[in-house]
Amino acid sequence: MFLCRLDELPDGDARGFDPARTGQDTVLVVRQGERVVGWRDACPHHGGTPMAWRKDAYLNTARDRIVCAAHGAQFDIATGVCTLGPCLGQRLQRVELVVDDNNIHIRET
Ligand code: FES
Repeated sequence: MFLCRLDELPDGDARGFDPARTGQDTVLVVRQGERVVGWRDACPHHGGTPMAWRKDAYLNTARDRIVCAAHGAQFDIATGVCTLGPCLGQRLQRVELVVDDNNIHIRET
């Protein structure tokens, strides 16, 4: 499923998507160079709570961790593991992505 073009997502940025058209973003994508990683926008601390306090606000100010706005949990961008906060050691659920001809897709299973 197509999400966006790679060049629409600036290096170091994160963006939320609503591929299932639920009315709220359920997938977040972070770009680091030419690499993109996808995670479910669902915090493991509290029953899959959405993590951004406003649209696309998924990263800390240093842009090296994904942050849940609810209680401040921080997650490693590459592994999804919580490195600080109330769900330490738990991890986000990966969303497999494919970058094909500058287009970012969710890998179909
Ligand atoms: S719901 Fe994410 S840190 Fe509590």
